[in-house]
Amino acid sequence: MKELAGKTAVVTGAASGIGRAMADRWAAAGMSVVLADIDQVALDVAIAEVSEVGPAAGLPIDVTVASEVEALLAFTVDHFDRAHLVCNNAGVAGPPGHAPHELTVEDWQWVLDVDLWGVIHGVRTFVPHLLEHGDGHIVNTASQAGLTSGSVISAAYYAAKHAVVALSECQFHDFAARAPGVNVSVLCPGPVATNIMHDEARRPERFQTVPAPVATDRSEAVTAAMWDVIASGRPPHEVAEIVHDAVINDEFYIYTDPNIVESVAARHRAIEQRGYPTTGRMDADVTGS
Ligand SMILES: NC(=O)c1ccc[n+]([C@@H]2O[C@H](COP(=O)([O-])OP(=O)(O)OC[C@H]3O[C@@H](n4cnc5c(N)ncnc54)[C@H](O)[C@@H]3O)[C@@H](O)[C@H]2O)c1
Repeated sequence: MKELAGKTAVVTGAASGIGRAMADRWAAAGMSVVLADIDQVALDVAIAEVSEVGPAAGLPIDVTVASEVEALLAFTVDHFDRAHLVCNNAGVAGPPGHAPHELTVEDWQWVLDVDLWGVIHGVRTFVPHLLEHGDGHIVNTASQAGLTSGSVISAAYYAAKHAVVALSECQFHDFAARAPGVNVSVLCPGPVATNIMHDEARRPERFQTVPAPVATDRSEAVTAAMWDVIASGRPPHEVAEIVHDAVINDEFYIYTDPNIVESVAARHRAIEQRGYPTTGRMDADVTGS
């Protein structure tokens, strides 16, 4: 999508971090911006600040609920006539440092519902609208955890993000076959300095495990190391700039950490040679190996 000015961007998870930075970037590019987030207090602040740059409106929604994402499309059409650039970005990390079998049913459901189903609801709701008017771009936020695997981030996060990459690749094939004016990118960032380690504060009640599981020595050590890795990650505004350039140049895979390419190549070599799974950059960053 070469021309952004005068069009409308919709961003989920827009109250914080990467989503907030994308909302700022789209406003600076002359777009109207619709911000959506589960955190109403932070969302109100974001709407007010983005409105100082250009037309902006926002809706508190939970992306795990299909009808709320549908309401976001209706809200966008009411305010700005149509959506053009849709960033399915809201996400949570889930409890770090647990083995896959140690995550509770609620942990799995929460992470998969936000990180995968949130994207699925965004795709199912907004793509027919984009196809109808014929000028659109979807950015699905995955992660470098969608291209590699490991043992430090929750297995639910790796599973959800791999699925977002696969879903986005399927969308690419579909659009290539039938919709020359509609494109898709998948954002696979490395560490970014955001509030993602505060995600428990945004865990809806229905995804709470009662009583809460007891932390293990390993989960506590990994969590502490992840706080450091995330805190020293790239600033979100740099990520938004990379996404901006990828959208106007119509790039599909968007990385923020060039070193990810080595991890991806190692993983693919292991698959080609029927070797054993390799670990991604995040494991190396967290364990210092
Ligand atoms: N920070 C990183 O290092 C990093 C790396 C790779 C990928 N990502 C991905 O980037 C995306 C944005 O995360 P971030 O790092 O900016 O974190 P963040 O916590 O700063 O922002 C995420 C936003 O999503 C919102 N959110 C959470 N659950 C929601 C729900 N059910 N419905 C609507 N909104 C909800 C939160 O309130 C928050 O405002 C996520 O998909 C995350 O997985 C982040």
